[in-house]
Amino acid sequence: MKLYGLGAGILLACAVTSRAAPIDEPVTTDTTPASDIDAASQQIEALLAQSKEVTESSLSDASTKRRREDYDGQQKCSLKNLLIRTEWSALSSKEKKSYISAVRCLQSKPARTPSTVAPGAKTRYDDFVATHIDQTLTIHYTGNFLTWHRFYTWVYERALREECGYTGTQPYWDWSRSAKSGLTAHPLFDGSATSMSGNGAHIDQTNGSIVLSGAGLPSLYLPVGNGGGCVSGPFKDYKVNLGPASLALSDGSTLAVENPKAYNPRCLKRDLTDAINQRYANASSVVNLILRNDDIASFQLKMQGVPGTGEIGVHGGGHYSLGGDPGRDVFVSPGDPAFFFHHAMIDRTYWMWQLLSPKTRTHAIAGTNTFFNMPPSADTTLDDIIDLGYVTDDQPTIESLGSTIEGPFCYIYI
Ligand SMILES: *[C@@H]1O[C@H](CO)[C@@H](O)[C@H](O)[C@H]1NC(C)=O
Ligand SMILES: *[C@@H]1O[C@H](CO)[C@@H](O)[C@H](O)[C@H]1NC(C)=O
Repeated sequence: MKLYGLGAGILLACAVTSRAAPIDEPVTTDTTPASDIDAASQQIEALLAQSKEVTESSLSDASTKRRREDYDGQQKCSLKNLLIRTEWSALSSKEKKSYISAVRCLQSKPARTPSTVAPGAKTRYDDFVATHIDQTLTIHYTGNFLTWHRFYTWVYERALREECGYTGTQPYWDWSRSAKSGLTAHPLFDGSATSMSGNGAHIDQTNGSIVLSGAGLPSLYLPVGNGGGCVSGPFKDYKVNLGPASLALSDGSTLAVENPKAYNPRCLKRDLTDAINQRYANASSVVNLILRNDDIASFQLKMQGVPGTGEIGVHGGGHYSLGGDPGRDVFVSPGDPAFFFHHAMIDRTYWMWQLLSPKTRTHAIAGTNTFFNMPPSADTTLDDIIDLGYVTDDQPTIESLGSTIEGPFCYIYI
């Protein structure tokens, strides 16, 4: 079926009819994002089905152009080697355990970052955290936000596979599911041996709140959860070695150490906060984001939240609903291994948005190279490269990262 160039409404109706609905009862829908949560969840299913279908049909189309020059020697992406990223809940217990042990493996291998660059980077896992700390102000509210994080998450997945023997893909965390179930009821955070550890131990945070402020804008107060302390479960012994660099605490203050790349080992803390998940990252937030923003500038801005408006977007919603340390630290956040599940979901949302209009959205770009263009910097271009420091020597162009089945990539989401 040829889907390019058709209206999204037709695509949605078509996808719903072909997949989600019983055959004798065709469902039609339109492109107005639903505010009702169950209706919005159905719209996400339809978007997903259509993204999958568009990707698969373009892979089976022999005319698909692939940018070979950057990735010579790599097998061409096809339906045969296409990797599928799934929600954590869809993995078997055995698969979950193998993912968890691969992460623990990365957290035990030596760092590649020299100690002169980041004395606190002790493990291969810390390489990822150190790079994010270094680049925070040039990868958020910038033109490279989506492609940078797409590549970063993929290199992490590749490290789990190539350096730690993992054979699966990077799973994602569907915020809209945990918004319904509650975070600690979601298999990712239930605290069991097949979770990424759950809530932190309860600490007293009476009357606590998180305060986001800056640049003279009105402060935003976010609720706290009922955890806040160290996690138990699989990541009980994992040490967060770097930071804090800008950690929002439940008394409203922000904590930073003089050198966030110094060695500062401490437990992983979480403060799972359902109120934030439900308010900022429910099914309706996701479909609104995808269906109401036609250009990349507004899509990436709404996703990250417009400062001063009280909205933190699904990106902020996911991060702050994890809470804790380093979950509430914009610089050090990859120090919580749930980060990569969150960013896989960010990438999945970007992917669904892109596939509503592949021709205009695969290589759409807007923004500059600095956080809200502070300090002023050049516009980001498709020829710019993504450099992940000691994480990897690969330096792809942004252009090669626009599609999940071109450049270095060959994956889709279900
Ligand atoms: C929490 O706030 C209430 C109402 O403002 C106040 O009465 C109470 O003393 C506060 N509790 C703590 C522990 O600060
Ligand atoms: C869902 O998210 C949107 C946008 O973040 C928000 O405006 C709305 O109130 C949320 N819905 C519920 C039921 O919390």
